[in-house]
Amino acid sequence: MNYEVKDLSLASAGRNKIEWAEAEMPVLRAIRARFAREQPLRGVRISACLHVTSETAALVRTLQAGGADVVLVASNPLSTQDDVAAALVAYDEIPVFAIKGEDNATYYRHIRAALDHHPHITMDDGCDLVSTLHKERPEQVGEVWCGTEETTTGVIRLRAMAKEGALRYPVLAVNDSMTKHYFDNRYGTGQSTIDGIIRATNVLLAGRTVVVCGYGWCGRGVAARARGMGAHVIVTEVNPLHALEAVMDGFQVMPLIEAAPKGDVFITVTGNKNVLDEPHFAVMKDNAILCNSGHFNAEINIPALQRMSVGEPRRVRPFVDQFTLKDGRRLNLLGEGRLINLAAAEGHPAAVMDMSFANQALGVEYMLHHYRELPPNVYTIPESVDREIARLKLESLGVRIDVLTEEQAQYLASWQEGT
Ligand code: ADE
Repeated sequence: MNYEVKDLSLASAGRNKIEWAEAEMPVLRAIRARFAREQPLRGVRISACLHVTSETAALVRTLQAGGADVVLVASNPLSTQDDVAAALVAYDEIPVFAIKGEDNATYYRHIRAALDHHPHITMDDGCDLVSTLHKERPEQVGEVWCGTEETTTGVIRLRAMAKEGALRYPVLAVNDSMTKHYFDNRYGTGQSTIDGIIRATNVLLAGRTVVVCGYGWCGRGVAARARGMGAHVIVTEVNPLHALEAVMDGFQVMPLIEAAPKGDVFITVTGNKNVLDEPHFAVMKDNAILCNSGHFNAEINIPALQRMSVGEPRRVRPFVDQFTLKDGRRLNLLGEGRLINLAAAEGHPAAVMDMSFANQALGVEYMLHHYRELPPNVYTIPESVDREIARLKLESLGVRIDVLTEEQAQYLASWQEGT
């Protein structure tokens, strides 16, 4: 078996971590038990390009239990948990190609290793696997039946591919399930981003000014949790609807250039590039903290920061690079501008990944049944599956809810009754 992980001797620690995560993933466990019985993925080759975490391990073990032949590679150079990668190789015989801190060349070599598996299904987080396949191996694209995509950024890229007519097979946007983005993007990113900032810096957030750039689902979660820690939160936005929502949620909203001299901590969650840029760095406070929790490390213009600095940045703590500007101010960049929740912490907690990865597992099963009738485009899981995941999650939490009476169901389906 081919694989590339940091150190196989970490495997037993990784196995403990996977066991810990799986205990918090009852929905995925139930799917796994059914997959093991029914073997719906028997003989299907899946190449997964995901953050290599204990939660992802629970997913790929579920796919394997369903009969799939899975290979796993990292979807980000800094997010791999090396012990988990070792455990998957050593105990589950799943080929993994991922090393925390791998350079860009290694990252893409690993993506090519996933393509060497000749997948029937691609499972992507950020669209690097799918775009590499389409760009570098057009002759191989025809072998792929369908795919799934985990995240907002990847779905945006896929829609751009579909619009240009470049996308050559149907892809399920897992991100667009309600049981994914309502919870993972908001509560997962909210908690794990604050966790990453605190693990990297041990900064006290109470009384500080935290600037959250972007008020999509992730930004909403980050802003809410930063406020919960006692921070004064400023939100910046380009979308008037999101900005209005932030205002009515009680946050201060202003252009980033006005927030720049006020902030102690800056968090980008926009999915765009060069959000924090030269004009902002020029007016930030000494010792400000800069980090990103969006998918790519493009949200902070690091080359500009480097150009404005004297000499090389100093690594003052793990995951903290301190840039000294020409006027002596210091700006602290966390996690090389990569997703801080996965670089310095462990990503979203398992309890929320339970629903995201239930969508992945059921999404693969759904696409296997339907890909033949779906033209190349981006699709969403049927609402009935989404609701079933929510129902199972509630059940696992011991929460019961009401059901419509016959009379109420009829009322909702009718139009005659009025005032
Ligand atoms: N994305 C965000 N958090 C994650 C996690 N814990 N595992 C896999 N992907 C993630």
